[in-house]
Amino acid sequence: MMTPENIQTLRKLMEFEAARKEPPVGFPALPDIPAGRYVDPRFHKLELDHVWRKSWLLAAHIDEIPEPGCFMLWENAGQPVVIVHAEDGAVNALYNTCSHRGAPVVTEQRGQSRSLTCQYHGWSYDHEGELRGIRDAQDFRDFDKSCRGLKAVRCERFGNLVFVNFDADAPTLLEWLGPIADEWEEFQFGSCRLASRAIFDLDCNWKIAMEANTEVYHVPCIHPNTVAPNLDHRRNVNTLYHNGHGRMIAPNPKAKSKLAGLDLSSEIAEIETAGEIARSCTQSYGLFPNWVSPLSQFAIPPILFWPNGIDKCRMETWTMAPQWQDGMKPDLWTENEGKELCQVLLEDTQFGEKIQRSMESNGFEGVPLSYQEARIYHWNQAADRMIGIDNIPEELRVQQVIGEEWIYPNDPRIAELD
Ligand code: FES
Ligand SMILES: [Fe+2]
Repeated sequence: MMTPENIQTLRKLMEFEAARKEPPVGFPALPDIPAGRYVDPRFHKLELDHVWRKSWLLAAHIDEIPEPGCFMLWENAGQPVVIVHAEDGAVNALYNTCSHRGAPVVTEQRGQSRSLTCQYHGWSYDHEGELRGIRDAQDFRDFDKSCRGLKAVRCERFGNLVFVNFDADAPTLLEWLGPIADEWEEFQFGSCRLASRAIFDLDCNWKIAMEANTEVYHVPCIHPNTVAPNLDHRRNVNTLYHNGHGRMIAPNPKAKSKLAGLDLSSEIAEIETAGEIARSCTQSYGLFPNWVSPLSQFAIPPILFWPNGIDKCRMETWTMAPQWQDGMKPDLWTENEGKELCQVLLEDTQFGEKIQRSMESNGFEGVPLSYQEARIYHWNQAADRMIGIDNIPEELRVQQVIGEEWIYPNDPRIAELD
């Protein structure tokens, strides 16, 4: 929860940002981000091997697997995974790869079943992935069923959200979120229901798409009539957290009931505990590696970005809310029930394909970022540390110039207030 002191400091920081004539004292010049990070297959491979293997990734909402025995396929991170709601209420994530000869154990997108039975030769597994039944077991000599279960993937919940992580050595989800878990308490992730979830193919590297949602510098230019009237970008306050996460908070100078250009039906219930900042500002979080979500009293609407090869990606849009009336399902991001992107996201995605072509050309070498775009740089620094800096070809690295002194709760700007 945000304390009155936190809120007061944020308000002062907004005025500080509006009044400053240059980046804050001590904030470094940001070296160019090499274009190769968007087009070089070596970097793409490093991302797949490290960033997508070691990060906590949003995979499901409990509403999609509400009862024991419910399961769903999840392949957004490129690995075949089945997520199962077990008898004891736990949610488990398992590789959907039969330990006999690798057939998928589950073939429907979703279902409900007492056991998971492979359709190739009929081996069956329980909801924990233990191998329970083998046909003609007498024909396997010295066979130990106990070590032939489905391989598990780390799986933890934050409220109603199910996150997975492919790395057995990763920190817990709560450690990963750090102070953000506390700040999110007021949004009641344990009460939010899933209203809509859709996915769109884009013709650019996934980071190009995501970065359009990781700074507000672009707002006056590409959202003049949608986001801009409701978001005072000069008063935006960025906060950088450990693990590459980030937050932006910018006051909404107009209607208190609007979330930066997105009209939410007034018929939907509010998240009553949402605080003053959520109600009067755009408060948006970037969760490393691929989550961007403005949180408000109306909704928890994350957008997720998934690589689909080096020069293509998939943008997944979610809207979660406490409750709604029949036929009024809130969906912040799409038109026609997930068939088309809403106006704001059309604006955000319009240049992706062209930027990809630029990055591939000889005419573009690197990206110079401003202080306003610091969250993008911070993300890149965190990615390199996760990959292991020495594993990255020198010409593809970013320099680690944003120091620990800028990572929350540290903030040199506070010394400049008053
Ligand atoms: S591959 Fe699954 S039972 Fe043979
Ligand atoms: Fe935008």
